[in-house]
Amino acid sequence: MRPIVTVHKELRVPPSSRKKITVPALRARKSSGPRIAAVTAYDITMARLVDEAGVDIILVGDSLGMVVQGLPNTLPVTTEEICYHGRAVARGVQFAHLVGDMPFMSYQVSVEQAVASAGRMMKDGAFEAVKLEGGVDWAEHVRAIVRCGIPVMGHVGLTPQSVHAMGGFRVQGKGEDSAARIVADARALEEAGAYSIVVEGVPADLARRITDAVSVPTIGIGAGVECDGQVLVCYDYLGMVRDLRPKFVKRFAELGDAVVSATRAYVDEVRAGTFPGPEHSFGMAGPKAVGEPTGTAPIDPVRSSYGPADG
Ligand code: KIV
Repeated sequence: MRPIVTVHKELRVPPSSRKKITVPALRARKSSGPRIAAVTAYDITMARLVDEAGVDIILVGDSLGMVVQGLPNTLPVTTEEICYHGRAVARGVQFAHLVGDMPFMSYQVSVEQAVASAGRMMKDGAFEAVKLEGGVDWAEHVRAIVRCGIPVMGHVGLTPQSVHAMGGFRVQGKGEDSAARIVADARALEEAGAYSIVVEGVPADLARRITDAVSVPTIGIGAGVECDGQVLVCYDYLGMVRDLRPKFVKRFAELGDAVVSATRAYVDEVRAGTFPGPEHSFGMAGPKAVGEPTGTAPIDPVRSSYGPADG
């Protein structure tokens, strides 16, 4: 059994010695630690912030259907939409490993469809890996994608694309039979070549069992602390979805409140005529002068191009 708390000397890598996070580096974290910190992001602005903060993995999750598009579940999200957000996020990522979620029915139809969709995500979405939900039933699909050189992150337990089959977003694996099925799913994914596995919405004891059963890192969400890493939806841990308080989410900030009060202050100043002040306004120029820069610099595409990485 793994120790409950692993103490690592240096949990936060200083910016100067940060390296691009790769699949082999993530695999090695299973034994060497520290635990893997993953978050979702859907645009360049959030990607730049969470990358600077030191996350290991940025996932463009199909959760974007719910938190960006306002849908009741993830089912309508398309590969094109995931790729669109993937490209936006990729422009803001320097160090984190970038994973794209394969949408519902983009991989289930056949092994050929799964390979074609995963390939499209790597080409059009700028992803470094794809994630798909399910275990034993999709092991052949995972094996075929991995054979093409595309890293696959698995996802077991509460699989949101099966929301209707599960009768809602419900904790899975509470009974021994379903717990054993989820362990078998995780083993099948590992055996098919998945390099990591998201474990969602299961009892903490089961997550520990899965983590002990596979040699690749497990990344938990609503699965207790015993996984090799954790993942959260960015708007959840930042407190931006104020009307939902899922038990498994810790709010590390209350940015929803901050956005509302900052916007109220803006509305008040616009109405009162106190914004923009002279410091936010431009003056007239002489006849030969060219336009004054506005201070709006273009965002550099910081992402490195293809080529061998050191180490
Ligand atoms: O879609 C998503 O964001 C996810 C994570 C929450 C694991 O699958």
